[in-house]
Amino acid sequence: MEVLPTKADLLASLADRKGVPRVLVPTMGALHRGHTSLFDRAREVAGKDGVVIATLFVNPVQFGPHEDFDAYPRPLEADLEKCRARGVDLVFAPSADEVYAADRSVAVTENRLSTTLCGASRPGHFDGVCTVVAKFFALIRPDAAIFGEKDYQQLAVIRRLVRDLDFPVRILAAPTVREDDGLALSSRNRYLDSAQRAAAPVLARSLHEVAAGIASGTLPGPTEARQAFLDHFAAAAPARLDYFAMVDAATLEPLVDFAGQTPRLLAAAFFGQTRLIDNVGLPGDKALPLLLGPS
Ligand code: PAF
Repeated sequence: MEVLPTKADLLASLADRKGVPRVLVPTMGALHRGHTSLFDRAREVAGKDGVVIATLFVNPVQFGPHEDFDAYPRPLEADLEKCRARGVDLVFAPSADEVYAADRSVAVTENRLSTTLCGASRPGHFDGVCTVVAKFFALIRPDAAIFGEKDYQQLAVIRRLVRDLDFPVRILAAPTVREDDGLALSSRNRYLDSAQRAAAPVLARSLHEVAAGIASGTLPGPTEARQAFLDHFAAAAPARLDYFAMVDAATLEPLVDFAGQTPRLLAAAFFGQTRLIDNVGLPGDKALPLLLGPS
């Protein structure tokens, strides 16, 4: 495995590997089993002769001024060991100065899917994500890139980025990996104290209960479903709900009824200072109705 800190190193290494499939897994490090499942999917897609590239980069421009950029974990050696163990070929692990010119003046903005849900709570976040992902696509020119469904809105935004800017890359979704009690794996779970960790699975549980109620017809419309979510979520005494939304799985538009729709349920909540997100489809739905673009 090669560890490449500069764009020049990355381009030189890619130049030596022409003509084989390139599959990219962008990450911010602090890797867990969710990420390693993306590496496994990348290897399946790349094949044994293809090249799997991971990025380890805590992207400053996707964090708000009062968010956890400084505190975000950066266990580089442990991350590299995980990449090595999963057969990643190249790791691009640049500094912020390497990625961004000091006088940079171009950014990428998605103006529709980014404005609601996490975009409403984290202004500028998706601009930062789109900008860094577009830069990685331009540098690496992958045939495919793998993103986790855990960040469902991010996945939708990236598909839109690729469609609207004509990046010749397939965006593939990989399912959320969960702890035994249902909590979605996240690098931020490590911030939780023991009471918050004990409460955190309520997010997944509430989403799954409501999805099951919608699928079985016991929750016939969004009003009943919202109330049911709030009732389940109230069990998590120390948590504060940021949002719960029922949206069309492809467009992320809010649903006014469920008939003939493919709903996706998304929620975000604070457990202490830690903001966790999660989402589910209805039981039996295909993982995604493949959001607005080629897969
Ligand atoms: O999902 C993440 O870890 C980040 O948002 C990404 C896609 C690596 C961009 O920094």
